[in-house]
Amino acid sequence: MRRPNLARTLRALDRARAEFGSAKVALVPTMGALHAGHLALVRRARQRAERVIVSIFVNPTQFAPHEDLASYPRTFAEDLAALAREGVDLVWAPSAEVMYPDGFATRIAPEGAAKAGLEDAFRPHFFGGVATVVAKLFLQCRPDFALFGEKDFQQLKVVTRLARDLDLRLRIIGVPTVRERDGLALSSRNAYLGEAERAVAPVLYGTLKQCAQSVAAGSSVAKALAHGRKAITAAGFVLDYLEARNAETLAPLNKHGDEPIRLLVAARLGRTRLIDNVGV
Ligand code: PAJ
Repeated sequence: MRRPNLARTLRALDRARAEFGSAKVALVPTMGALHAGHLALVRRARQRAERVIVSIFVNPTQFAPHEDLASYPRTFAEDLAALAREGVDLVWAPSAEVMYPDGFATRIAPEGAAKAGLEDAFRPHFFGGVATVVAKLFLQCRPDFALFGEKDFQQLKVVTRLARDLDLRLRIIGVPTVRERDGLALSSRNAYLGEAERAVAPVLYGTLKQCAQSVAAGSSVAKALAHGRKAITAAGFVLDYLEARNAETLAPLNKHGDEPIRLLVAARLGRTRLIDNVGV
């Protein structure tokens, strides 16, 4: 088990990146507090490319002032050990000052899927922050591939568009959601759940699956979603949204019923906000 190279400054990153020469490079952007979902991305990255970079940066610009930036779980030593076991070549872990030095004044404003409602309706600062930091990570690390989880489905769409629109010349690869045995999608924020909340949390995925089955069996989307919203609320969640969207564009569904459908949900259990999604 070889410890990955650790870069904390752009100079150190450039030096380590230069050592990769012409080898294909894959990047897995993360905010740390790594779990098996992140590691699934790392494994896919290793299959795709000869060298793997994992970035660990809790990005302040994608959190609103009232959100959990200060309390976001940070487990850097454990993260490094897990990445060593996965054979990662380089960990890019800049400080906020390195990423956003004094005078920093540029922000990418994504449209399309980023303006389709869903997360944007509840976290209006979020995709601007994500797009800006992801564009910087791509330019800093210059990967051939970058891997993102379907867990954050709208983010995956936004980042795919960003890479195309800015001619960043890399391929974005989406990876299916890794779940606990009971269906709960792995998330760094699951650490916030109390015991009773943790027991209720799988209702989210259970409901998504039921809705998807009803719709696939010919039930009306509106009816399935109305049922689903009731079930989620009855379990004790405060629902932000449960919606059916075009799986490609995330636009609202047309009237013809001839398009791929994705069901997306966000709901709060106490102070923990959970999101999930499934295809129909
Ligand atoms: P973070 O929440 O740490 O997630 C990093 C990557 O892991 C994302 O692509 C996310 O979709 C993926 N991921 C998280 N849980 C997963 C699961 N259960 N199964 C599969 N993949 C999963 O998403 C972010 O960080 C940030 O917004 C970031 C892209 C790093 C920009 O700051």
